Amino acid sequence: MLKALDNFHLPVLQAEVCQYLITDKNGVYVDGTLGGGGHSQAILEQLAASGRVIGIDLDRDAIAQATARLSNYGERFQAIQLNFRDIKSLLTNLRLKSIDGLLLDLGVSSHQIDDVNRGFSYQVPTQLDMRLSQDQKIRAVDILNQSSEQELARIMYEYGEERFARRIAEKIVQERQLHPVDSSEKLRSIVSSIVPFQFQIKSLSRVFQALRIAVNQELDNLIQCLNDVLPYLKPGGRLVIISYHSLEDRMVKQFFKDNEKKCHCPPGFPICVCGGEGMLEIVTRKPILPGLAEIEKNSRARSGKLRVAQRI
Ligand SMILES: C[S@@+](CC[C@H](N)C(=O)[O-])C[C@H]1O[C@@H](n2cnc3c(N)ncnc32)[C@H](O)[C@@H]1O
Repeated sequence: MLKALDNFHLPVLQAEVCQYLITDKNGVYVDGTLGGGGHSQAILEQLAASGRVIGIDLDRDAIAQATARLSNYGERFQAIQLNFRDIKSLLTNLRLKSIDGLLLDLGVSSHQIDDVNRGFSYQVPTQLDMRLSQDQKIRAVDILNQSSEQELARIMYEYGEERFARRIAEKIVQERQLHPVDSSEKLRSIVSSIVPFQFQIKSLSRVFQALRIAVNQELDNLIQCLNDVLPYLKPGGRLVIISYHSLEDRMVKQFFKDNEKKCHCPPGFPICVCGGEGMLEIVTRKPILPGLAEIEKNSRARSGKLRVAQRI
């Protein structure tokens, strides 16, 4: 069941996204994380009559929601259920040789967190599912009950930076010999039995987030998409990425740095003759953060960090 439009998801840093992403009002933009279509709508509102947005999401609820919301834009908006890591084949299939910008607003939507059946939250009793795509086979419960103790510890340590990762993994493996660890209550009680009381809330959110990242291979998706989209960005076209997790933000920052053009020609030279490599210019040296007013209105914005780079 779809909720009322306003409850689906409140877009984060909406004005800033439009300001940095739109470099040509008649351009073609990809919203790689369509969600409820809030960002896409704001972008479409600012584009001219031939400007287009292609929206991608893994989640069929998001596709249905955004399609209904943006139906009045006709052919200027297209919603496609897809993993953004497959952006290259998408652009090939659409016969698009280049795009003017890509937006990624990473992570999960409010709708996904709030829908008990999707199993993302440790705050309500639920089956541990956590798939962004309802078509994917592997759920959180499969990882919890089938991965080795070392793999579970790695997931929680690497993706959650959880310092009790090894002991939590050991306890999961002990418990699952008696019964499957298949619900948020069971995982919550395992974490609470290991972690001192004052750190429990933080550990719970780290462990659940780490599992979600593993289920959906979120870091692999991100790096593959960034690498593959770069050759398709028009000169002057932009990557606008909002992350909510320190690992993702570091990955984006590093990707921008690795691809930054390091030209040593004197400032007056009309073209580069030094052969400095790289395809990007970093537009935001420091990430842009939501202001207090936005965080007050939307607490889920608080960990958002927006970074922008431009194709040379
Ligand atoms: C934070 S929400 C985006 C909200 C959206 N900007 C809006 O205004 O409503 C993130 C969305 O990205 C989707 N998503 C995450 N990883 C994805 C991937 N690899 N490919 C496609 N969609 C993905 C999720 O399903 C979710 O709907």
